[in-house]
Amino acid sequence: MYNDKVMEAFRNPKNVGEIENCDGLGKVGNASCGDIMQITLKIENDVIVDAKFKTFGCAAAIATSSTATDMIIGMTIEEALKITNKKVVEELEGLPPQKIHCSVLAEEAIKAAIEDYQNRKKGIVVEKEEKYV
Ligand code: FES
Repeated sequence: MYNDKVMEAFRNPKNVGEIENCDGLGKVGNASCGDIMQITLKIENDVIVDAKFKTFGCAAAIATSSTATDMIIGMTIEEALKITNKKVVEELEGLPPQKIHCSVLAEEAIKAAIEDYQNRKKGIVVEKEEKYV
């Protein structure tokens, strides 16, 4: 049901893991299936220099995590905020219609990690709450 590009990203995902002493952390869950994705970012001068993910989820969630983190490395936070699940799916050359909802996790996790970074910069400590999309 998945194309070759999705299967490759699922079988050999890039950027797996967690950045120690990260500058931003986003953790989101998918209420419909219970899957969870965490993205950690290393940011220098508002440029994302590294991104890693940990995903407890389906093949589409793993593939979109890998692709989305790859896409944002080297981007400014402004550019990364414009990444939508649609763009990630396009990069993967499509997902089955019933798996599109899985790609929303990556977009939401990136936005949550950037929001966390911006809050830390302002000195705001936000209690970590899991957000469900
Ligand atoms: Fe849960 Fe895909 S089925 S993210």
